[in-house]
Amino acid sequence: MSVRPARSPRPPDLSPIAADVRRGLTATPKWLPARLFYDRRGSELFDAITELPEYYLTRVEYALLERHAADIVERAIAGAPRPVRVVELGAGSGVKTKLLLQAFVSRQGRTLYMPIDVSEGALRACALRLWRETPDVDVQPLAMRHEDALPAITSLGPRRLVLFIGSSIGNLSDAEAARLLGSVRRCLAPGGALLLGADRVKPLSVLLPAYDDAAGVTAAFNRNVLARINRELGGRFDVERFDHEARWNPDAAAVEMHLVSRGAQRVQIEALELTVDFADRESIHTESSAKYDDARIHALIRAAGFVPERDYQDDRGWFGLHFCRVE
Ligand code: AVI
Repeated sequence: MSVRPARSPRPPDLSPIAADVRRGLTATPKWLPARLFYDRRGSELFDAITELPEYYLTRVEYALLERHAADIVERAIAGAPRPVRVVELGAGSGVKTKLLLQAFVSRQGRTLYMPIDVSEGALRACALRLWRETPDVDVQPLAMRHEDALPAITSLGPRRLVLFIGSSIGNLSDAEAARLLGSVRRCLAPGGALLLGADRVKPLSVLLPAYDDAAGVTAAFNRNVLARINRELGGRFDVERFDHEARWNPDAAAVEMHLVSRGAQRVQIEALELTVDFADRESIHTESSAKYDDARIHALIRAAGFVPERDYQDDRGWFGLHFCRVE
């Protein structure tokens, strides 16, 4: 009887991104989840994107918050035992949220604010800014995935305003968005509220440059996902051999970002013991950013069990803030 030497088992995928990368790059068509963008470098690049002339989303939402912060706060505290506590899914830089928190402080005094984000770096930057600039806000950052943070949100008591702004909802499929909003709804009591920021459908002459800017910052943000695989998983991507593309998908009403292989190429990813073959012009779909009209966003809000109480929009109708109530 011949004894074959035991094959050494594949080493476990130790990196937190390993499973995502293996799943996405062995699928047809290839894809990578948008959450992989946000390592330290990716978060810096995203901050730079928010200042680009083409990326209108942050500016328009900021102006809406500036204009309507007092009304939003009034609704959040209407008929409720004070103080209302503020929870944010995704911390961001804290710049936009500061506007709302200042309005809360003027109306109700000291205000508790719990930003929730998987990125400890983003949380630290947000918390530091607010500690420095808004001493009457008690910041309690929570480094966690949104889904895991629901018990902590519930523990804050019955009166809460949950913020999910920046159109981060657009990076989820409608099914994922309905699931997340539904679980947020379940940890709020009647009277509780959600403020949802959602980018709106508009001409492609505005949408596409927002995801393919002249300075190439969004291209660098997109390619950083390959650089991250190189850094964290011993990938051998030649990142410049992938073209950044922003495409409109009319069926999904979403801008998609792709990395398109320039030429046929084979890439090793050492930590995964994986070889990935790319045909010429084959793409990796890295992000969808959905754009909403009233029907789509209200359907999502209602499917989650909220009642859309008040919509705020800029004059051009480019961006929407939706104040949603639990009844
Ligand atoms: C975070 N998210 C809402 C951004 C968006 O517009 O979908 C991410 C982004 N991707 C490219 N540019 C910005």
